[in-house]
Formats: sequence, C-alpha cells, structure tokens
Amino acid sequence: MVDKIHSYKKYKEDYIESVENPEKFWGDIAEGFSWRKKWNTVFKHDKENAEVKWFEGGKLNITENCLDRHLEKNGNKTAIIWEPNNPDEESRYITYRQLYVKVSRFANVLKNNGIKKGDRVCLYMPMIPELTIAMLACARIGAVHSIVFAGFSSSALSSRINDSECKLLITANEVYRGTKPINLKAVCDEALEDSPSVEKVIVYRRTVEPTEMKEGRDVFWFDELQKIENFECDAEEMDAEDMLFILYTSGSTGKPKGMVHTTGGYMVGSTYTFQNVFQYEEDDVYWCTADIGWITGHSYIIYGPLAAGATTVMFEGVPSYPDYGRFWEIVEKLKVTHFYTAPTAIRALAKHPISLVEKYDLSSLKVLGSVGEPINEDAWHWYNDNIGKGTCPIVDTWWQTETGAIMISAMAGITPLRPTFATMPLPGVQPALMDENGKEILDSPAEGRLAMKAPWPSVARTIYGDHQRYKDTYFSAYEGMYFTGDGAYRDAMGNYRITGRVDDVVIVSGHNLGTAPIENAIDEHLDVVECAVVGFPHDVKGNALYAYVTKIDESVTSEDDLRKEINDLIRGSIGAIAKLDKIQFVSGLPKTRSGKIMRRILRKIASNDTSNLGDTSTLLNPEVVTEIMDNVIL
Ligand code: PRX
Repeated sequence: MVDKIHSYKKYKEDYIESVENPEKFWGDIAEGFSWRKKWNTVFKHDKENAEVKWFEGGKLNITENCLDRHLEKNGNKTAIIWEPNNPDEESRYITYRQLYVKVSRFANVLKNNGIKKGDRVCLYMPMIPELTIAMLACARIGAVHSIVFAGFSSSALSSRINDSECKLLITANEVYRGTKPINLKAVCDEALEDSPSVEKVIVYRRTVEPTEMKEGRDVFWFDELQKIENFECDAEEMDAEDMLFILYTSGSTGKPKGMVHTTGGYMVGSTYTFQNVFQYEEDDVYWCTADIGWITGHSYIIYGPLAAGATTVMFEGVPSYPDYGRFWEIVEKLKVTHFYTAPTAIRALAKHPISLVEKYDLSSLKVLGSVGEPINEDAWHWYNDNIGKGTCPIVDTWWQTETGAIMISAMAGITPLRPTFATMPLPGVQPALMDENGKEILDSPAEGRLAMKAPWPSVARTIYGDHQRYKDTYFSAYEGMYFTGDGAYRDAMGNYRITGRVDDVVIVSGHNLGTAPIENAIDEHLDVVECAVVGFPHDVKGNALYAYVTKIDESVTSEDDLRKEINDLIRGSIGAIAKLDKIQFVSGLPKTRSGKIMRRILRKIASNDTSNLGDTSTLLNPEVVTEIMDNVIL
C-alpha cells in the first residue's frame, strides 16, 4: 500500500501532481497493489468515442488484493464484523483467512453451477456476510456481479436481470428488517416468471421458515457447499479493463442504467479514497451503514476497506429497531472508530430524544462521514455536537454510482472542513462549474453545473449494452467533460457545496430516483390520463415525491382509493422507496406550446415557492397554473 496523505501541504502537492502528471501520480499509487502483470499504459482517453482505459495491459484479480495478500501478516485480523437485525442474535466475526476460505469455497460452488468468466450473476440479498462472500466469489472467478437492492420490487428486479441477461440469481429465503419479515425468495419467484435467462437460483436459508423451491432450478446454499471438497480456488486472471460489476442507477429518462465498473481502476480508486478520506489506521473499526445494494456499500463496505486490510462492519438491521438508539449501541459495543452514514438517517435520529444517544459511550469514534445527499446545517451540527462531541472531523463525501469512488471530500483531520460543504476535490479530480451557456465559470464564489474536466481511474466505463446512452448522458453536455447532473456552489477558498440535482432525478432518503419510471408506473392506472412527478423539500427525507395527476372523465374511483392504487402500482413496479407523499388531481398539466410539461413550475408549486414562477403567459394553458396553485397540497 502507498502511504496515506498526512498533511494539508502534501494534499496540495499531490493534487498538483495528479493534474499535471496523472500517469505518474496514479501509476505510483497502483504500484501499491498486487498485480500479476504490470500495465503497459496508465491512462488512455478517446474523447471522440467516450472510451476511457486505466492500467491497460495490467493483469490482476481484485480478490487477491482484498484477501490473499493480507493472509501472511493479517490472516487472523477481523475482516468483517456482522451485526444482526435482532440484537439478541450473535454477532459474527470473520477473519481475513476465514473470508478467504469461504470465498474460495463458494467460488467453486459457482463453477460447479456452470458459471464462468464474463457470466453475469444477480445478487438479491439481505445484509449478511454471504452477500459479501457471493460478491467476492464472483470476482474470484471473473463473473460479473449485478447486485440489486433487496428493497426493489419483483418487476424492478426482473428488468435488471433481463437487461444484463444474468444466468444465476443468488438470494435468501427471508429476512427481518426491524420486526418486519420480507420474503425475498417470493419476490425472486415472481421476477423469474419474466426473466428467462436465469437458469439457477441459489438460496441462502436465513430463517427457518419453509421455502418453496422450484425443482431443477432452485438449490440451497448449504447443499451446494457440501458438494465442494476443494477449499481453494485459483483466482481468474483479469485484465485491468475486464468488467468487475454492473450496478443499476436511475436515469432521468427511460430504464435504469447498468453502470459498468472495471477491475483495475475501480480497485485503485476505491481503495485510495478509502484510505485517504477516512484516514483508517491499523486497529480501527470502520462502519458504513449503507446497503451493499448501492454503490456506497460496494466501494466503502467491501472493496475499498478490504483491499486496504481494514475491519469493516456490516449491519443487517435498521436504525429504528429495537429503538432509535441502535446505531449508538453498536458503536459502543464494537468500539467503532469510523462511522459513515447518510443525512436522511441523521435527520431521522435527531428527531428522537437525545437520551437515546447519551445512554451510550461513543468515545471510540474518531471520524464521521456523510454521503448521498447534501447535508443541511441543522443535521451537520447535530451530528458534530452529539455524535462527534465536537472532536471528530465530518467528511462530507460527494460522489456517484458512476464515479465509483469519492470525488469531493475533506480528508479527516488533514484538510479543512466547512459545514455543509463537501469541500475540496481529491487528487485526480478536476471539477469545473459551468454556466447556462456551457462555458466554464472561472471566478469564485460562483454557482453552476458541476462537470469534471478529465477522467479518473474509477469512472464507470459504459452503460451495459448501451454505450451511446453513456456518451449522451455524461459526455455530450460539455465538450470533452463528464457531466454529473448536479449543481454546485464554490466559495472563494475553492470549497464546493453540492446544491442538488439539476435533472429529473430526485434524491429521496438518499436514494436516487428517476421521475420517468415513477410516471410510467402511474400511467399504468386505467383511470390516469397523464401525470408529472417532481421532488419537494422534506425535513427528514431531504426530498419527497409529489405527483400531479389528470384522470379520465369517467373515473368513478374515489380520489383516496385512486391515491392508494397509484402508490400500489409504484410499489409493484419500483418498490416502496418510490412511494409518493402527495398526489394532487388536476384538470391539466402546464405545457409549452410544443407540448412539453413545465416541470420547473410544478416543482416550485410543490415546494411552496411561487414568488417567482417566471412568465407563464407563453404556456399553452396558463389557466391551469392558477388552478394547481389554488389546490396545492402543502
Ligand atoms: O446528487 C448527488 C447526491 O447523490 C447523487 C448520486 O447518487 P448515487 O449514484 O445513488 O450515489 C450515492 C452515493 C455516492 C449525486 O449526483 N450526492 C451524493 N453524495 C452527496 C450528494 N449530494 C450532496 N452531498 C453529498 N455528499
């Protein structure tokens, strides 16, 4: 491993080097990993075709970096501490050596089931160590994992499986989140009715409930393990640019995008940022509360921490069970040093009596992190004062599924903080603020759209099966630059604050949701003519969803029933995370003369910010705006 950055001065020096000489900078960092063969070129960028390559010609396997290379010195070190949903159940401690054996053995299960390099494997699993084992087992044999967050509905699961034609699905029979049982296997069965590419399903038995199994297709995890006598599995040699995983994220239009991450650059980016942002030290206990179904879990529960040889905590449960003190109980119990969560969780916890925090000894904490959405001033101070006791730096980490690794963030204790600001770009990250005319804004302070001037090692390489969409979405707004979809403010010192999405993606409770698929689900209702979904500010979720719906004249369904049926459709097509908070029935939607729905106006009305609606007279139907404002649900 390369040395961490230890001073602000070094950060500035490294930053300059990373911009002036990226090949040298990243080449030196990559030297700190274990490669079977070194690369021929550090970096290649074909701007015309939006093709990015890092460490081309290099050969490696990421699991040799996450497991094998720690065995000699750190084989008995705890790699994963698993904390169950139910606090009465035992925690599990898994050492690097044990994890190595479990991964190797399960990799042989995969092979036994006909999985080979390049095959796609879908994981629809709860937060249990077997998710990590399955994920690393895929990487061990060069299969591509596509993890689908286990809160998604069967049809969302099915469409993701179909998009990447997964051959195998790995799931668990059932899981408890708080007091609620969730039958994951039943969701999978439903999904598989429409997903013919899946030949086999491996089911981990998490609870003792009877599980319906389909003959010839479904097998139990333990039964498959029993068939394996070989606890070693040679790692497949991968090219640096071979696909490591696909992870779906919402787009502002159409179906979800299967972001493709490749092996070498992703490993280097996620590990380098893990070490430097969190300043992890040998005996620390690091806990990221995200679900592995999202990129945060991929990069900062699994790949980054394990490649860095850290002890990483996995939590199966929810912050509210058995009560809202659970997070702090775990911090005390495991002596957590690094705690990384989302602003939505902080806001929800801050609403409960402070005695639930004060009950626990949080003195082990050294560093706090925030991710997924802008952190507001109140939440920042609550976190800083009550959890960090004013002594733990808060790293507000801005990044995306597409970026693979943290891009803008403080480095704990090394670079200066500014509350509610993600602060400075990490080495190798070159942000630009763009004005409405597509020109870079060079002065500060300033506000604009956030773009990146040059690719970094962990940038997603394409959208699975649709490189054109990748080019159009990320590399066409500004010539030669990557467009993030976010707006940002830069202060005079060069600190960045992310102001939120500038496209039709809404971040609800830290989950990235495109409005288009939600609108499609609503349109499925036979009584609905058309609809528009926008986000509005919410004090816990950050944003919540507001729908404007026009219904057919003949509709006899009561509005309350219709609201319920619409939300049921959304739950079925996407999942409960996309539930609408407010549904307003309207006689029409404001449209331009060319028929485009004016979402800007609808967003302002839903946000109770109607002082400056702009000129509505050019609309096709300006009268509808008054009607909508008169009946708005606040
Ligand atoms: O809008 C930004 C917001 O989350 C988006 C990316 O979402 P996703 O791909 O799901 O990844 C989330 C976890 C990395 C971004 O475009 N976002 C993420 N982190 C922050 C943030 N907004 C403000 N501050 C952050 N720290």
